[in-house]
Amino acid sequence: MDGPVRAYVPTVRGGGQMHVRMLCLGRHWNGQKYQYEPTRADFDDQPAPPLPASFRALAAEIAGAAATALDPDICILNFYDADGRMGLHQDKDESQASLEAGHPVVSVSLGDAARFLFGGTRRRDPVESIVLQSGDAFVFGGPARLRFHGVSRILPRTAPPELQISGRFNLTFRRY
Ligand code: SIN
Ligand code: MN
Repeated sequence: MDGPVRAYVPTVRGGGQMHVRMLCLGRHWNGQKYQYEPTRADFDDQPAPPLPASFRALAAEIAGAAATALDPDICILNFYDADGRMGLHQDKDESQASLEAGHPVVSVSLGDAARFLFGGTRRRDPVESIVLQSGDAFVFGGPARLRFHGVSRILPRTAPPELQISGRFNLTFRRY
């Protein structure tokens, strides 16, 4: 997160700042355009670092365990501090072909637990609240691929002590 291509807090369309630090691997998600691109045009013009083979294999294994399949080419790595959150949204900036195929999003959480909201395909649909703990994976694909979701709050000081971190990392794997 603090390496040469560092994580940053994106300013999104409309001028608001996100409540996470973000680092994209494989392809960069531009929060001004809501589009993927090879370089970080909304921040420092550096190329998105490659997706490590070990990350790609982990996501494929998790998708398999959830009786689906994913060969990801993107990982969005987000860090939430105690005040981190993410409003309800759909993940719909991947290619039309990928969305139509229903390739899942594979989400992996580490560190502090989070209250994760999972709604329907319309913003006004009822929302389910789930606590995602460190080590949990959450997979949504097929007819669930465009369901609204978000993080309403972080549960501070819930990270496993052996990780020696405060805050939450979430990695979402996708196929462009
Ligand atoms: C996201 O929707 O991109 C992140 C979800 C999470 O942090 O669990
Ligand atoms: Mn999302």
